[in-house]
Amino acid sequence: MTMFKTVTTAPYKDQKPGTSGLRKKVPVFQQENYAENFIQAIFDSLEGFEGKTLVIGGDGRYYNREVIQKALKMAAAAGFGKVMVGQGGILSTPAASNLIRKYKAFGGIVLSASHNPGGPTEDFGIKYNIGNGGPAPEKITDAIFARTQVIDTYRIADVADIDLDAIGTFDLAGMTVEVVDPVADYVTLMEELFDFPAIKAHIAGGFKVVIDSMGAVTGPYAVEILEKRLGAPAGSVRNSTPLPDFGGHHPDPNLVHAKELYDDVMSPTGPDFGAASDGDGDRNMVVGKNMFVTPSDSLAIIAANATLAPGYAKGIAGIARSMPTSAAADRVAEKLGIGMYETPTGWKFFGNLLDAGKATICGEESFGTGSDHVREKDGLWAVLFWLNILAVRKESAYDIVTKHWAEYGRNYYSRHDYEEVDSDAANGMIAALREKLSTLPGQTFGALKVEAADDFAYNDPVDGSVSKNQGVRVLFEGGSRVVFRLSGTGTSGATIRLYVERYEPDASRHAIETQEALADLIAIADEISELKKRSGRDAPTVIT
Ligand code: G6P
Ligand code: ZN
Repeated sequence: MTMFKTVTTAPYKDQKPGTSGLRKKVPVFQQENYAENFIQAIFDSLEGFEGKTLVIGGDGRYYNREVIQKALKMAAAAGFGKVMVGQGGILSTPAASNLIRKYKAFGGIVLSASHNPGGPTEDFGIKYNIGNGGPAPEKITDAIFARTQVIDTYRIADVADIDLDAIGTFDLAGMTVEVVDPVADYVTLMEELFDFPAIKAHIAGGFKVVIDSMGAVTGPYAVEILEKRLGAPAGSVRNSTPLPDFGGHHPDPNLVHAKELYDDVMSPTGPDFGAASDGDGDRNMVVGKNMFVTPSDSLAIIAANATLAPGYAKGIAGIARSMPTSAAADRVAEKLGIGMYETPTGWKFFGNLLDAGKATICGEESFGTGSDHVREKDGLWAVLFWLNILAVRKESAYDIVTKHWAEYGRNYYSRHDYEEVDSDAANGMIAALREKLSTLPGQTFGALKVEAADDFAYNDPVDGSVSKNQGVRVLFEGGSRVVFRLSGTGTSGATIRLYVERYEPDASRHAIETQEALADLIAIADEISELKKRSGRDAPTVIT
């Protein structure tokens, strides 16, 4: 009697992983063998994992448990020696990255569609991470996709489901399954990096913090850290139970979806500081009283104050940011005399820099911040970094941010999204911009003169790989710029992103409302790109 069976299947043509794994609606994943095909394609694209450990976990969204059971049985059939799985099927993306690294696993499968809504008709996703804890590079995701196109069988153990809710070690068809506390190892890591006693004392002294977990994965992590270890009152973590549909929340921490938290912190009697995370716990938003901290400023301020946290007391080796992220961090790197790296959008581009020790801290304008402690961006890490800085400096977020601007100058920054635009129109706009690039330098628009214009290309300084066509940049004299690119994560039509940035060194001009401060650049961007005319829209869908 064999415990394994080989099942005949047929390829699905649409299993191409995007920026962050394969993301589709739940009903798509529920088609016969759909998840199985993709998981088998992952295993078929890897080599040398026999007898080794795989980490599996997800953000708790609808269909998480079902796919975990399938993945466990398929890992056994593929020959893994052991799987570490989070209790209840829960692992935040940064916690999964930590487990892979800490226990030297071969890799991991992370089940999430990040900040997209969850539920029976909402989104689901499967992503493979490699042994450094980071997302699989394109070489591997391309191989996985190629395999999905020809797959005709998959292998699975024909055994009963594992009880995911019981912590312990179990046998599954000869493979060891270790159901682990999803929170413990992550909390240990955070305690090593940050000054918990200082934060605890600051909270005990009356500093009021709230975290909105948005019904998603960070709830148990935030309750353990903020309420249990740091002594914040019960209830300081809101929406703290991970729910299959996130309680109807759209778990994307920004000014639109975390508005309640924002309004609360802004009210005179509300908390001093608030933070929110996304579905799988890798994004963060931080707000202080009367001060929304943009992700670009957050990166710069964390880097400038990094040595206040014990884990970074020796100083940081370098900073990396995605190209559309503001240049605020560049000024910090310059002052510290450390390396500054500008990469294409997508966390995976930071992996080589972190592995090579060139960068310690990384960030993106899309509410992602992190460091070399794992190989994913990390929402709670960013929140704890801020709490550490606030506790040691004993100043408000408002004072810390405005003092930072006074010292380095302020990079006014905003992103305008035009969602669900006709794909041909969006591609046409970018193509027309590319045509124009060489004619722009030297031209003046109002008071601004174009210094340079290009389509961003990245030469990876570690492995020499080149990534072209990563976004059109128009750079003006004095440090202002506009950037145009198409989103790589959208699901319907095209999303045009316009990033606008203006550098203002004069501290007497640091209190202008952002859209007002950027109004001339926004108008110039439209003039250069014909954005409104080509998209058929007279205003962006979302402004962040
Ligand atoms: C995901 C990726 C990020 C990226 C963001 C926006 O969160 O992990 O690295 O910055 O999506 O990408 P997009 O292509 O939609 O601008
Ligand atoms: Zn995410």
